[in-house]
Formats: sequence, C-alpha cells, structure tokens
Amino acid sequence: MKAAILVESLTGNTWKAGELIAANLQQEGWSITGLSPVKQPDHSSIQEADTVIVGTWVHGLFVVGQAPWAVDRLRALPSMAGKQAVSFCTFALNPGKSLDVMAQALESCGAQVLGGLALHRGKLAAHAEEFAARLIDNTAAK
Ligand SMILES: Cc1cc2nc3c(=O)[nH]c(=O)nc-3n(C[C@H](O)[C@H](O)[C@H](O)COP(=O)(O)O)c2cc1C
Repeated sequence: MKAAILVESLTGNTWKAGELIAANLQQEGWSITGLSPVKQPDHSSIQEADTVIVGTWVHGLFVVGQAPWAVDRLRALPSMAGKQAVSFCTFALNPGKSLDVMAQALESCGAQVLGGLALHRGKLAAHAEEFAARLIDNTAAK
C-alpha cells in the first residue's frame, strides 16, 4: 500500500506522531509517498497514494469545546476522490469529538474515510504503533 501523510502541528507532537506512523507502516512493507504539512500539502504525494493519513492536534478548554485544530485547512485539502483516508489527532486530556469532525472534513474532500485514532501526547510511540497496526488490519480485511 502507498500512504501520503499530512500533518498540522504547533509544538511538534503531531509531526512526531506522523513520523512514527510512517516508520511503523514502512516496517510492514508500506511505502510512504510523502510527509508534508497540511498548510503546504505535497500534491504529488497525495496523487500517488491509495491511502491518505491526516493528523492534527486537539484544541479547546481541555474538558469542553475540544476540536481539531485547523479543520478549515483540512476541508481545503486537494481532492481525495477514489482514495481512502484515515485521521489521527494528538491530545493531552480528552479529544472530545475531534475525530468525528475530522472524518466529516475528509469526506468533504471526496475520500472514503476508514476511521481514526486519538493519540495521547505522552504515549506517542505506543499509540502510533497501534494506529499503524489497526490501519494494516483494516486494509488487509478488505
Ligand atoms: C491552546 C491549546 C489548547 C489545547 N486544548 C486541548 C484540549 O482542549 N484538550 C486536549 O486534550 N488537549 C489540548 N491541548 C493539547 C494539545 O492537543 C497537545 O499538546 C497536542 O499534542 C499538541 O500537538 P502539537 O505538538 O503537534 O502542536 C491544547 C494545546 C494548546 C496549545
């Protein structure tokens, strides 16, 4: 499988998670067509990929009002028609319904959304491994 990874990150956690996910997928034989910022998406990496992985971070008041950061930028990503998409968000306390909001945004880009996972910022390595394992299982089951 070929995956493009797009990341929105302020302090680096989500970018790190993207790198860890890439490494985990590569270990299982996937190729990564590119890792680029949502702000400046690498269009050719999206075109080349069959799976687009999009990550951002959760902002809000920690227990209320949580939302994925820059959801407007997610909605403005290039067309993903004919591709599958998966999301992840990093968070500190509680991601709220951030993944649902991300799924809607990716659907609006034409992707078939498989799902998503919230990654705790203190457990990035373990949660990135879990994300990659679930994605591989989900794709293999098709
Ligand atoms: C302004 C601000 C608001 C935040 N609000 C929340 C929140 O409501 N819930 C939560 O779980 N984490 C919240 N966080 C924590 C971030 O989601 C977490 O640190 C994330 O990993 C940051 O990703 P980044 O390093 O890629 O920017 C907030 C962080 C900031 C800076």
